[in-house]
Amino acid sequence: MPIIVFGSINMDLVANTPRLPRPGETLTGHRFTTIPGGKGANQAVAVARLGIPTEMVGRVGGDRFGEELLTSLRASGVGCDRVLQDNTTHSGVAMIAVDDSAENQIIVIPGANGQVDPTDLQRFTDVLSTASALLLQLEIPLPAVVAAAQAAKAAGVPVILDPAPAPTHLPDELYPLIEILTPNQIEAGQLVGFEVNTLDLAADAATVLHQRGVSTVIVKLGKQGALCSPANGEPFQVPAFVVKAIDTVAAGDAFNGGLAAALAEGLSLRQATRWAAATAALSVTKVGAQSSMPSREELEAFLATPGV
Ligand code: RIB
Repeated sequence: MPIIVFGSINMDLVANTPRLPRPGETLTGHRFTTIPGGKGANQAVAVARLGIPTEMVGRVGGDRFGEELLTSLRASGVGCDRVLQDNTTHSGVAMIAVDDSAENQIIVIPGANGQVDPTDLQRFTDVLSTASALLLQLEIPLPAVVAAAQAAKAAGVPVILDPAPAPTHLPDELYPLIEILTPNQIEAGQLVGFEVNTLDLAADAATVLHQRGVSTVIVKLGKQGALCSPANGEPFQVPAFVVKAIDTVAAGDAFNGGLAAALAEGLSLRQATRWAAATAALSVTKVGAQSSMPSREELEAFLATPGV
């Protein structure tokens, strides 16, 4: 059963720099690279590299980046027959600065991603009911996200929503359509209206999100690991893996890819959250977004390492 990812596809324009610039400041960086990214496409690559059949649905522009993005997705094993090449606009791009301490700043210009609308659903309704999960994020317009979640719910397919970039508000009708919501601490704070920077506060945020209708909430807390609050049962923590981070871009996408892949393999929620944390940990040890997603072999070797 495939995993379907409906979301953004970007070309990341990455500047590596000693530190992030202050407003109005010009800095000289170390290096410039273009690396395929986009929260949707990154999650698709993470899932596919872990050996699960994956279908990407979205749009690229009618430009050179569009071709390169599709080539890169296919090279990772992601099915792209449902990606539309939209000749009316350019491909999504993300201007990313990464500093020497692995901190980053990202500006996204949506391009073709911003044109995605509920009509894009027509390109995957035929496979939706065969999917083991639908992965969504918030880098395509909200009406398309809501329509996709409604279609998945009607088809009995679990929706895993990564509420990134941080939303100021989500429509009330979206929450009950979500099987698993995976905010990081900033996104959780935006959704619930209080700061979420400890495990206890993450559990409080999860309670609020359950009350709005979400089944399972997993709050990504960086070095504090993840707080997983299942639909039925007590919340539990899954610790973060200690690694040397060189680039944290797309760590959240790696987490969701690892989570979805593990659930597709039939692992428990606790084991799947451990896979997710391990996939994220491995991703921060490599440069870039899609380029940093680990293979199944790398993930299994990491999890089997004594002391990990
Ligand atoms: O989550 C990381 C991604 O955010 C980058 O690949 C960039 O494209 C932005 O969408």
